[in-house]
Amino acid sequence: MTSPLLVGLPLAGRDVLVTGGGPAAAAHAGDLRQAGALVRVVAPHVCEDLHELVVRDAATVTLDEREPRESDLDGVWLVVAADGGSTDRARVQGWAEARRIWCVVDDDATAAQIHDAGSLLAHGDLDLRRPTGTLGAVTLVGGGPGAPELITVAGRRALAEADVIVTDRLGPRSVLTNVRPGVEIIDVGKTPGHHPVPQHEINRILVEQAQLGRRVVRLKGGDPFLLGRGGEEVLACQEAGVPVDVVPGISSAFAVPALAGIPVTQRGLVAAVHVTSGHEPLADAALASVREESATLVVLMGVGNLGHIVEQLRGAGADPSTPVAVVERGSTPEQRLTRATLADIVAVAAEVRVRAPAVIVIGAVAAS
Ligand SMILES: C[S@@+](CC[C@H](N)C(=O)[O-])C[C@H]1O[C@@H](n2cnc3c(N)ncnc32)[C@H](O)[C@@H]1O
Repeated sequence: MTSPLLVGLPLAGRDVLVTGGGPAAAAHAGDLRQAGALVRVVAPHVCEDLHELVVRDAATVTLDEREPRESDLDGVWLVVAADGGSTDRARVQGWAEARRIWCVVDDDATAAQIHDAGSLLAHGDLDLRRPTGTLGAVTLVGGGPGAPELITVAGRRALAEADVIVTDRLGPRSVLTNVRPGVEIIDVGKTPGHHPVPQHEINRILVEQAQLGRRVVRLKGGDPFLLGRGGEEVLACQEAGVPVDVVPGISSAFAVPALAGIPVTQRGLVAAVHVTSGHEPLADAALASVREESATLVVLMGVGNLGHIVEQLRGAGADPSTPVAVVERGSTPEQRLTRATLADIVAVAAEVRVRAPAVIVIGAVAAS
């Protein structure tokens, strides 16, 4: 979905500069790339989404990890000043005006205030003081697997009413360019040094923001309670006396196979499904589901451990010809389906360079 600010601009093949490295810059860079622009991002720190975009689309999106300079505007048709401080954006805008280059400024007036959690934690100097006299609340919103259309109506409403949105890399980031002006977005996906923000810090941020009287949305990928640590966030709020509720989301466990044409159950074939994390050793019930062909096994977070998962299943006596499907980046333009069998999925996945995030489906329904 192209940003309304960019609709109609003939950007194909044209150089565009994006300054800023947070989620807003990532969303703009993605939009610009889709419009065919040659995007150069200049920012001292970038969030994980931007990193992934640059790695995935090195031919069209390039990155200089440093502060922007005036000479970065040489030869560009358009500048997008996103994220960073307002002074940084104003400086870039000033350079663009002096050169008569159009500049889209993603600032408080046109979009959200976006901070990464690293700067929040490191400086603690953001303007968080907006006393309302009443206690705020936290709503955990399941954002679905990625496409902006796959968030629920209740989830969209919660986002529209939020004062603060706390997000990470698996939430559908594309919805964040359309939230109301003035919303503060805190990225807890990665700090500037690319370290994950620990769960206890995320809990602390949620509680602290609500105690400032704000309506806080914790935007999560898929469903908040399916391998998403949403339960811990709810407990942290309850323990602090902060009102908390949950808007369920469409889980990648079912939606991503569905989008690739794979029903996780099928009448006459299999009537049960077992969902598990690929980070832990497989439980006996998971091993039995494949060995006995009694349930489809759906593995989340399993790409890095695929070899070990296959080893465990084969060690437990699963048929090597059991079908396996791996669906990467479901619901996004980069969705890809790879099919093989237990015997050869590791080699096939390595050959086609399967990468996370992906859902692994094991069982008869995964056959073509
Ligand atoms: C930490 S779990 C969170 C799951 C989430 N709560 C849900 O219900 O979808 C993250 C894993 O979900 C899966 N996942 C989430 N979104 C995905 C997508 N768009 N395409 C493929 N897999 C996805 C991947 O296995 C990823 O490693």
